[in-house]
Amino acid sequence: MAKPNRRNRRTGSEAHYENGGYYDQAYRLRRHDVRFYSNLALESGGPVLELGVGTGRVAIAIAQAGIEVVGVDSMTPMLDQARQRLDRLPRKTRHRVELRESDLQRLRLRRKFPLVVAPFNVWMHLYTREEIERGFATVRHHLTPGGRFAFDVLLPDPVSLARDPAKRYAGGLVPHPRDGVRYRYGEYFSYDPMTQVETVVMDFEHPVKKEQSFCTPLTQRQFFPAELESLLHYNGFRVESHTGDFEGKPIGADTESQVVVARMQRPTP
Ligand SMILES: C[S@@+](CC[C@H](N)C(=O)[O-])C[C@H]1O[C@@H](n2cnc3c(N)ncnc32)[C@H](O)[C@@H]1O
Repeated sequence: MAKPNRRNRRTGSEAHYENGGYYDQAYRLRRHDVRFYSNLALESGGPVLELGVGTGRVAIAIAQAGIEVVGVDSMTPMLDQARQRLDRLPRKTRHRVELRESDLQRLRLRRKFPLVVAPFNVWMHLYTREEIERGFATVRHHLTPGGRFAFDVLLPDPVSLARDPAKRYAGGLVPHPRDGVRYRYGEYFSYDPMTQVETVVMDFEHPVKKEQSFCTPLTQRQFFPAELESLLHYNGFRVESHTGDFEGKPIGADTESQVVVARMQRPTP
């Protein structure tokens, strides 16, 4: 399998987000993080800036809790899906959400927020040190003094990262909203230990018409816990909590996530 480079990293950070309907279907059962981010939003009093807002999964819940939210994403199909979801909501809730298309690394709004969030692995799409630093600079730029940044990324699993890149890991039948067909789903995993980038190729095999089979790559930067805390420290944040799930469980062999709440120590110079 190809080594990650700038071009295939880009493909791997976009392909998975080219169908907002598929994204919503794939993650419809993911609810455990929504209450966590909504509670932080309520505590902050708002407004909230969500980086990598996607289809509005979290932003809409924050708006329903009565808090204003600005959501930013670089992928048009995800924002289109978010707009469709917003259209179905009462006017009052809808008007609490503002959506903007932008790369989070370059975002510079003329507004400050007491809380910036990046839920569900958004930070894993920042691959190099320079990209990660630009991400943190964006957060610092938009936080009010002493404001908080909350996000979650996966906890790297050394056993999973050592998986055979040639092996297909079967995942059952998956209906795709694109055509309603139930595809035979499988995944290939390859990990580059130097860049810490993992590529997951999601393989959708058509049950009859093989020529209609397709693959979707997803590339994610892995962050080891002590590395993540160092990055936060050297980028002007103090870690308030760093847990293995959204209920505060310590990071360990049985946890999959890293959930971080950090407070800004110094604004962007
Ligand atoms: C896994 S989704 C999470 C979406 C949403 N936060 C949620 O919890 O459902 C990651 C999102 O980050 C967005 N994203 C990735 N890199 C980005 C960047 N550099 N700037 C803005 N958005 C980005 C993707 O387009 C995608 O919508």
